[in-house]
Amino acid sequence: MRTLREEIERRRTFAIISHPDAGKTTLTEKFLLYGGAIQLAGTVKGKKNTKHAVSDWMEIEKQRGISVTSSVLQFEYRDFCINILDTPGHQDFSEDTYRTLMAADSAVMVIDGSKGVEEQTRKLFKVCGMRHIPVFTFINKMDREAKDPYELMEEIEAELGIKTCAINWPIGSGKRFKGVYERETQKVLRFQGVNGTREAEVIEADLNDTSLADVLEEELYLKLKDDVELLDGASEPFDLEAVRRGELSPVCFGSALTNFGVEPFLNHFLDMTTSPLPRYSGDDLVDPFSEDFSGFVFKIQANMNKAHRDRMAFVRICSGKFEKGMEVFHVQGNKKMKLNQSKQLMAQDRETVEEAYAGDIIGIFDPGVFSIGDTICLAKHKVQFDGIPTFAPEHFLRVRQKDSMKRKQFVKGIMQIAQEGAIQIFQEPQGGMDEVIVGAVGVLQFDVLEYRLKNEYGVDILTTPLSYQFIRWIDNEGVDPHQYNLSSDTKIVQDLKGRYLLLFSNAWGINWATQHNADLQLSEFSR
Ligand code: G4P
Repeated sequence: MRTLREEIERRRTFAIISHPDAGKTTLTEKFLLYGGAIQLAGTVKGKKNTKHAVSDWMEIEKQRGISVTSSVLQFEYRDFCINILDTPGHQDFSEDTYRTLMAADSAVMVIDGSKGVEEQTRKLFKVCGMRHIPVFTFINKMDREAKDPYELMEEIEAELGIKTCAINWPIGSGKRFKGVYERETQKVLRFQGVNGTREAEVIEADLNDTSLADVLEEELYLKLKDDVELLDGASEPFDLEAVRRGELSPVCFGSALTNFGVEPFLNHFLDMTTSPLPRYSGDDLVDPFSEDFSGFVFKIQANMNKAHRDRMAFVRICSGKFEKGMEVFHVQGNKKMKLNQSKQLMAQDRETVEEAYAGDIIGIFDPGVFSIGDTICLAKHKVQFDGIPTFAPEHFLRVRQKDSMKRKQFVKGIMQIAQEGAIQIFQEPQGGMDEVIVGAVGVLQFDVLEYRLKNEYGVDILTTPLSYQFIRWIDNEGVDPHQYNLSSDTKIVQDLKGRYLLLFSNAWGINWATQHNADLQLSEFSR
């Protein structure tokens, strides 16, 4: 039996981010394979493939081959209990990624070695930078023709603004990929291209021993010698504290598909990361090792499984131990509640959790009371974790249901989806719910909305895109915004709490509004 401290100490909770197709799903599956969490990693999802990765569960994801939602997977490896938080790769879901990062203590960033830093990695990384969490880089697909490794490292440094430190170094790439050189142990892990081999051949690599040239090819051997000399002399020194502050990213090269370099990466990662970190409640840090349970909701999802038709709130446990059936205090609702229906999520399958510890993620049944960012804790020891900011929507759509007989389902569906935080709903002043304006951070959210309304609520919708790009809440209390002098393309709407907002087509419109209405107070976020 482990003590509470031992259980928490062995936890590692990280998010995995990448541009779509860089190999995030493949890497995740190989991780799980080491932990024995799944029998067979399965063929990695392909766009037309019928087999799908375990972390993908929504139809739309399967159809498009992108990850739309984030899911949570737990597995054991060595003596660690590891929680992987999968994130949607597409930038349109960067808000979801941000929330997931709020629940993680570190991030793994997967980069395609042939492509380098891609547009969406840049965006997601920016989100990561907002959290200052340690970032570990896996440069994938070295079995394919890759960019020069120095160039890749420089690109990461220049584009993402984080220093890098190579933990291993690739020897060739593509057809001539021979393996990697482990800098610390000075060993060569030899790539033999065997798909799924668990252990790579390890060669003690004395770089002065020219017989290594026979194994690696003369040219690659000489290049490796030069590279290692250069790296030892010129590259950023390894500094664990800088890694933990999120200022230096350790970089490993490998090939997830052929399972090469995955296990060493996982081991490096585990050795460099820490157990669950304390979180702020106001000015105080909540100690994860405290006996008292606490956690916060970072994600809400309805209808994850059609057979269940329920709503789950994903909770990151921040301190103490969770036990099934325990009574907790929901801070924002100011109410005690019993957590009977708690689940651990393994993609489609859910297992009831009996107990969980700081660092773990549990899914709890949500009867419609939770909002993103809410705290649950023990009534005898109340804390309140800092909230999770919402991103301002940048895309807007007018939406109404095709069949007016379906009004009830339409309202229920759109409200529930909005509560999950993927979209925001606005109304014409004094307008009803028959026609609404929906705002989202990325346009793909609209496809998801349409798909889900149809599939989960049986409602077909008619949509009209609107050209607004900016949103501002009116902070002035009790005013009729129609009294303001606004440009003709500025639209007045209300949110579901009745607060007035303005939608602008461009930044110029915002300037106009503030310049022509001295007392008008606008804010980017709702209060
Ligand atoms: P993602 O979750 O980041 O979107 O990427 P995913 O793991 O689904 O991988 C995207 C594609 O890249 C997959 O191909 C996968 O097999 C391939 N891949 C992943 N890791 C490696 C690697 O180390 N080497 C090579 N050569 N390929 C890798 P796919 O979807 O089956 O087919 P396609 O998209 O290439 O048509």
